[in-house]
Amino acid sequence: MSLLQDNFGRKFPYIRMSITDVCNFKCGYCLANGYQVDKSDNRKFLHLDEIRRLAIVFSKLGVSKIRITGGEPTVRKDFFEIIKILKDAGIKKVTITTNGYHLDKKAQMLVDSGLNGINISIDSLDRKTFKSITGHDRLPEILKGIQILQDLNFENIKVNAVLLNNINASEKDFNSWGEFIKINKVDFRFIELMQTGDNLDYFRKYHISSKIFKEYLNKNNWIYQTLGKDAGPSINYINPDYKGKFGIIAPYSKDFCKSCNRLRITSRGDLRLCLFGNTGISIRHLLQKDDQIAELQDLILGQMKFKKESHYLELGETGLTKNLSKTGG
Ligand code: 5AD
Ligand code: SF4
Repeated sequence: MSLLQDNFGRKFPYIRMSITDVCNFKCGYCLANGYQVDKSDNRKFLHLDEIRRLAIVFSKLGVSKIRITGGEPTVRKDFFEIIKILKDAGIKKVTITTNGYHLDKKAQMLVDSGLNGINISIDSLDRKTFKSITGHDRLPEILKGIQILQDLNFENIKVNAVLLNNINASEKDFNSWGEFIKINKVDFRFIELMQTGDNLDYFRKYHISSKIFKEYLNKNNWIYQTLGKDAGPSINYINPDYKGKFGIIAPYSKDFCKSCNRLRITSRGDLRLCLFGNTGISIRHLLQKDDQIAELQDLILGQMKFKKESHYLELGETGLTKNLSKTGG
């Protein structure tokens, strides 16, 4: 039972924890010029002891799932240790979001770590398009990694793509994902492009409503799956002839925030109540000693009343978020 609950009756059994802002890709909508060191912020990323204390507190607060994000979380040398720390603290489900860099080489270690799920970002199954979006010709190693994970019977593989007008949003693109999930037990979801502080021109040029994918799914006999108990914001579609599901994550949709079940921790130890909200406080001063854990727990609980009902993105507010590498998408 999660003790974390806001004024709108939403519970938070789920934390997304960013462990670094650094990323080795250059996705046009996120870090178009690659990762740049933020000279105004010389705080270090959370270290292992701080992460351990966070995991203990969240475990006490009834959090059952932590997703490790970045930037690109696997760039940290102690990445596998972090998975172990979270598990040892009693977090039942530990998952990661990754760009898939060197996934073929890491697959075995990921399985051995006891990881419970993986979200891989692949914006296109076309090698050239993939390279033009991310700045890296790495599609083959990622697909190979997914194959290895499946061969090792790893469950809970999801692939996310950001839907981009005139880049990956044609019927041909949708069909190739269909062929992919027909034979792979992988759930594929399109995320609608979100506007951030850094990507306004890109957003204007490439944003397209996910309605076009929804229409495709309806036309091709995909069946809308009603939301489960701890369903996140993805709306899923099933088809008995396919091993994987299709999904849509549409942050601008009217009811998106109603199913919000997550809080965020940034790589430098801020608690964020919303990906986009400008409500965030540093909790790092209470991560320094083991005997601060009770105080930390009270601080986090006390913040719940500040969580807002919606992100108000439709009003063009981008909150604190310059790009999603800071808060892990
Ligand atoms: N809009 C939508 N999705 C984004 N991501 C990063 N930036 C944006 C954005 N502006 C996605 C990544 C990845 C996940 C972490 O967030 O592609 O799938
Ligand atoms: Fe890196 Fe993810 Fe941002 Fe792409 S979207 S640049 S993979 S952090």
